[in-house]
Amino acid sequence: MVAAISSVAGDRGRQSNYVYGAAKGMLTLFLQGLRNRLVRAGVSVVTIKPGFVDTPMTAHIEKKGLLWAPPEAVAQGILRAIAKRRDVVYLPGVWRWIMLIIRHIPEAVFKRLEL
Ligand SMILES: NC(=O)c1ccc[n+]([C@@H]2O[C@H](COP(=O)([O-])OP(=O)(O)OC[C@H]3O[C@@H](n4cnc5c(N)ncnc54)[C@H](OP(=O)(O)O)[C@@H]3O)[C@@H](O)[C@H]2O)c1
Repeated sequence: MVAAISSVAGDRGRQSNYVYGAAKGMLTLFLQGLRNRLVRAGVSVVTIKPGFVDTPMTAHIEKKGLLWAPPEAVAQGILRAIAKRRDVVYLPGVWRWIMLIIRHIPEAVFKRLEL
């Protein structure tokens, strides 16, 4: 079993964090390849993609709104994902749908957004 914490930031490049996002995007792709390589050996590779989590890493950001999750809830989600041998998990789960929308915004529109 391999489980690694990537991020929703790796799903699409944004002006506010694209260096971090590029590193996470690389990690997500690496884990995808590793999963494909190890599946026949019976090894699960779990890619964890948290959204906004209230931790020391984000201490400098003003935390307003429903999208901020406590680390304890995300940790529980990680344990569940590992127990179920999930391939990719968004935490909290609503980020799966948020990122589905974000990924499908046409680039001509997305490049003008302030995200
Ligand atoms: N917070 C978010 O909103 C968020 C969202 C998506 C993904 N993530 C990802 O979740 C993971 C955990 O982030 P977090 O929010 O929990 O950040 P955090 O509160 O800053 O914790 C980072 C942890 O990594 C350790 N660490 C940092 N640099 C290290 C190094 N060079 N060698 C060994 N350990 C090191 C720190 O150890 P010390 O405490 O000893 O310094 C700390 O335990 C990261 O991969 C982050 O990218 C976070």
